[in-house]
Parts: sequence; C-alpha cells; structure tokens
Amino acid sequence: MDARFLRLGVNIDHVATIRNARGGDAPSPVRAARIAEQAGADGITAHLREDRRHIRDEDIAELMESISVPLNFEMAATAEMQAIALQHKPHAVCLVPERREERTTEGGLGVVQDEQRLSDFIAPLNEAGCRVSMFIEADPHQIEASARIGASVVELHTGALCEAHLKKDFSARDAHLQRIKHGAETAFDMGLEVHAGHGLDFETAPMAAALPQVVELNIGHFLIGEAIFIGLPDAIAKMRAVMDTARQAMVS
Ligand code: PXP
Repeated sequence: MDARFLRLGVNIDHVATIRNARGGDAPSPVRAARIAEQAGADGITAHLREDRRHIRDEDIAELMESISVPLNFEMAATAEMQAIALQHKPHAVCLVPERREERTTEGGLGVVQDEQRLSDFIAPLNEAGCRVSMFIEADPHQIEASARIGASVVELHTGALCEAHLKKDFSARDAHLQRIKHGAETAFDMGLEVHAGHGLDFETAPMAAALPQVVELNIGHFLIGEAIFIGLPDAIAKMRAVMDTARQAMVS
C-alpha cells in the first residue's frame, strides 16, 4: 500500500458563517477557497445545509469555476440536495446526517438503518460520475453497509476522538483512536477509500494522519479559527507540515 501521500481537504464553511452573520458578501468563501488552494489544499469541502447557514446555493457554481482542485460537496440525503448535486456534478459528494437544531454534524450517518433508500439515493450520483462518500462512525456495520450500497469512500467521524483529547480524557481518546484504526482497516479491506474528519486540529490531525489507510483529512473549523491569528495560508501550511510529519513517521 502506498500510504505516503495524504490529501488535505479544507472546509471553508465557516468563512461563510462569518459572512452570513452580516448578510452581505464578505468575507467570501470562494476567495478563501482560492487562497486555500494556493496554500496547498488538495481539495475544498463545503456543506450546503438545509438552512443555508454556511454556503449558499450560488456559492457552489462560483466555487467550481474558481478552483482547480476537486470540490467535495457535503449534503444531507434529501431530494433537494440530490437535484443540486446532479446539476453541478462536483468531484465528490459526501452524505452527512443533518438535524436543524444541531450546532455541527453530530455523529455519523445511519447507513444500516436506511440502507435501501440510501442505495437508491446514491445510484444517480454514481452514474453522474461523483465519488460518493458516507460520513459515518467507525462502526463495522456502517462500513459494511456503505460498501453494500455502492459508496466509493467512507469518511470516518473523528469528532468523539477530538472531544476526548480536548477534555484530556486520554483513555477515551485512545479507545476512539483504536476504533477508528480498526474501521480504517475494515473499510480499506473492503475496497473503500478512507477519509477522516471533524474536529481535527494540530494535535489530533497527526493521530488520523498516522493511519496508513486514511488518504484524506477534511478540516474546517480549526483552520478557519486559526486563520484569524496567523492567516489562512500559514494555518494550512502548518497543518500540512504536521500531517506530513506524522505520515513520514508512519512509513519510516
Ligand atoms: N467532514 C465532514 C463530513 C463534516 O461534515 C465536517 C464539518 O462538520 C468536517 C469534515 C470538518 O469538521 P471541522 O469543521 O470540525 O473541521
């Protein structure tokens, strides 16, 4: 397995969150995406939520025109979002669970619980050439169901790992890391591409980066927050460096 290269997908949602606080056009998430690309992002991730609290519909076309790295379009598995994805045909579509009242995406998608519907839902996206990814907990049942329905990718939810690390509950953190490690191995053995994301920062991204099956990390909130203090290019460059260091330690 060539596990040396690890892609960094930069999620620009929270640039849009700041823009939306005033309802105007600034700061522009599209400008942030262009800067992220110049700073070394391998992809841009954006989540069009039902309530449009992050990016807006018109951002999608502008993003696709403005960047030359792939767009990973996150969305809920609804008919409205499917129609938008089929209109734009982004490189990747990542299906996420979505509840209006949540502050952020809490927990992974219940693929097992909704298997037939999700299978029907992703078929036209696959046909349109989008790489379909399921944002799931590192649970073997969810991974197996994702493979059965024809997803190409699973993105393993790192939220609980990061929360335990922040709380300095290191035994819980290590248990989550083991679960994610086994999940990455299971998914890889089933032929799925493995991504990871949610809540990652300079301390936790190396833990995910050190899992050889993981080929992409999607990181947003921390990088956009860090950009306030050190600028987006430096935040991305530093993240790239900590990921590469963890990766090199793994292969050497
Ligand atoms: N991956 C997925 C599927 C997400 O939904 C999100 C945002 O909730 C992220 C990664 C990035 O998470 P964060 O903004 O916490 O870095």
